[in-house]
Amino acid sequence: MVTFSQNPCLIMAPMVDLSHEAYRDLVRSFGGCDLFYSEMLNSRILPSEKPGESLYLKWHDTKELILQILGNDPDLMKNAAEKLLNVNPWGIDINMGCWLKKITVHGWGLALMKDINLAQKVVESVRGAIKVPLSVKIRIGYSLDKSYLLDFVSMLEGSGVDFIVLHGRTALDGLNRPARWEYIAFVKEHLKIPVIGNGDIKSARDALSLLQQTSCDGVMVGRQALRQPWIFRDIKAALNEEPLQDPPDLKEVMITLTYLLEKYFSPIIAVKRFKVAFPWLAENLVFGHYLVKEIGRLHSMDDIRLKIEKTFADGIT
Ligand SMILES: Cc1cc2nc3c(=O)[nH]c(=O)nc-3n(C[C@H](O)[C@H](O)[C@H](O)COP(=O)(O)O)c2cc1C
Repeated sequence: MVTFSQNPCLIMAPMVDLSHEAYRDLVRSFGGCDLFYSEMLNSRILPSEKPGESLYLKWHDTKELILQILGNDPDLMKNAAEKLLNVNPWGIDINMGCWLKKITVHGWGLALMKDINLAQKVVESVRGAIKVPLSVKIRIGYSLDKSYLLDFVSMLEGSGVDFIVLHGRTALDGLNRPARWEYIAFVKEHLKIPVIGNGDIKSARDALSLLQQTSCDGVMVGRQALRQPWIFRDIKAALNEEPLQDPPDLKEVMITLTYLLEKYFSPIIAVKRFKVAFPWLAENLVFGHYLVKEIGRLHSMDDIRLKIEKTFADGIT
């Protein structure tokens, strides 16, 4: 049985192009969370990536990191998991939740929830190859079919998965329809292994509500941790019934991210990644869309910093 360092366990979600060391360090600068996920790593591409060299495998912080693999071939998935053990992750996750057509068209991600037999083979193959904790991140599925969902999660439990992350949406729900937390409660009620609830946590109060309404063992936060990298500090305070701190100085948060990206990535990649992350932080500003547009035109981090400093100094926020 897996043991989390904290109960409930607070986890930052996997997010493509955003789940990197720099963002994790930004979250850590506010006290961090208990576990982080990497973005999805394609099991077909992983064999040619070199740990310690590849952009995706250069992490210094793997002791609290779960590496997420994507694919549907049991052997490739096993090889990918074995390769990732070289960087000593806290755990490995199998992505069975990505609903995007460019992923499911290959039979990967959420598509595996349609094929319970193949999903089982993938899980058993990876399970047999690793001793570190194994999670599977799923959605409710393709429809609101509780009986199929129960069969599926029972299969995961029976195949040796240590815990499940359930994003409370179907394929059709995309990312917009409110998450259906009642399905998280349903799955939690029926499984012995821990269940982590995910979907629509926008505040510390939401995290508490999800925990109370579902009795789940932890919460995973995605988009709101991009907008507010300090959200886990707030959730911890709420869990301890302590008053929440004031939000940090947003300009400082943005500037800190520029330096963290420069610490870990080449100048070109750092700027690219800043442009992916920045729109989320800018959602905190009334005129954030203006700054996003302006920053989109810049090519160096120094210029980006100057632009941010000037915009805040001019009060166009
Ligand atoms: C930009 C972006 C990238 C994502 N990439 C992944 C991914 O690589 N793997 C995955 O399992 N989920 C991915 N997701 C889904 C999130 O992990 C999470 O399940 C979803 O955003 C719902 O949680 P939230 O309401 O807290 O954002 C991504 C979501 C977003 C917005």
